[in-house]
Amino acid sequence: MVLEKSKSLVLGNLLQRLTENLRKEAQLFYRSQNIDFEPKWFPVIYVLSQRKAISVVELSQEIGYSHPTTISLLKELEKKELIGSTKDAKDERKRLITLTEKANELIQQLQPLWAVMTQALVELTDTENNLYKAINEVNQNLKTKNLFDRMTTIKEMNLNPVKAVENDIKVEKIEDPKLESIAFAIRRQVFVEEQNVSQERESMDDAEAIHYLATVNGLPAGAARYRLMQKGAKIERIAVLSSYRGKKVGEAILKKIVEDLRNEEKIYLYAQVNASPFYIKNGFKQTNNYFLDARIEHVEMDLVK
Ligand SMILES: CC(C)(COP(=O)(O)OP(=O)(O)OC[C@H]1O[C@@H](n2cnc3c(N)ncnc32)[C@H](O)[C@@H]1OP(=O)(O)O)[C@@H](O)C(=O)NCCC(=O)NCCS
Repeated sequence: MVLEKSKSLVLGNLLQRLTENLRKEAQLFYRSQNIDFEPKWFPVIYVLSQRKAISVVELSQEIGYSHPTTISLLKELEKKELIGSTKDAKDERKRLITLTEKANELIQQLQPLWAVMTQALVELTDTENNLYKAINEVNQNLKTKNLFDRMTTIKEMNLNPVKAVENDIKVEKIEDPKLESIAFAIRRQVFVEEQNVSQERESMDDAEAIHYLATVNGLPAGAARYRLMQKGAKIERIAVLSSYRGKKVGEAILKKIVEDLRNEEKIYLYAQVNASPFYIKNGFKQTNNYFLDARIEHVEMDLVK
């Protein structure tokens, strides 16, 4: 069957069919026992048998039906002379629903049938994936977050996958040599492949530097290093893989290194001139020291403390 193949999508339809099936069978059972009773009346009659006199609002809350549905059920039951009403002793304007004598007699006949039905339903649902438990679980989930909100969130995530998944940026100082080679690979991709810097020059002085790796949702995205020089701490080789640029990975790297170097007197770097706005945004200022390095124009920048 076409619909059955789409499983979750037809959940509402499956539940409706199941409810309809159970209702029909119960109806058949009442008829076979010569009792004039409709399964849809059950919640109202049962609650009234337990609560005696109750307002319409309380009743609709108890049975979980909307106010109009409850009213139309009550009308039917009134016609059948199964319910009546009294005025609330505490508040004259309030009407309380009660069962009639006829209803109480009917309940006497119904009780043994309800016991039989309960037994049959327990037998029917006592399977590995118990239906009652499953319904309670789903209801609990709905309380945590309703279906509408779930659908809206999923739709937003589908529309903005980058925003939705690329927000867990982590930057760590590298202690494991395996991670070091990942950082070096990122730098090679950015400086050697993209910017045509020689590999020898790119990796010069790596042995005396402290290295950093940035990940986005656990995937390598950026790298950098610093060295402690005579003049101060020098941040170098900040590189973010092109597909991760503009998502604050560079900023996260810079912030982490600056934080780790907070006790240093002076923090500086040699910025590629066209990248200097990035450093200015992150608290550095240009000096007058401009020069060419690997044929790329650079400027010395200091962190303003
Ligand atoms: C420069 C680089 C490290 C920036 O990293 P990034 O992750 O793309 O930058 P971010 O997303 O953290 O940017 C932070 C801010 O700086 C700005 N910015 C980043 N790179 C910039 C650049 N080249 N020019 C001007 N502004 C820049 C961003 O627009 C952003 O501004 P906002 O806060 O107003 O939105 C990265 O683009 C890169 O690896 N480039 C190639 C290698 C390189 O040139 N390294 C620098 C060597 S000095």
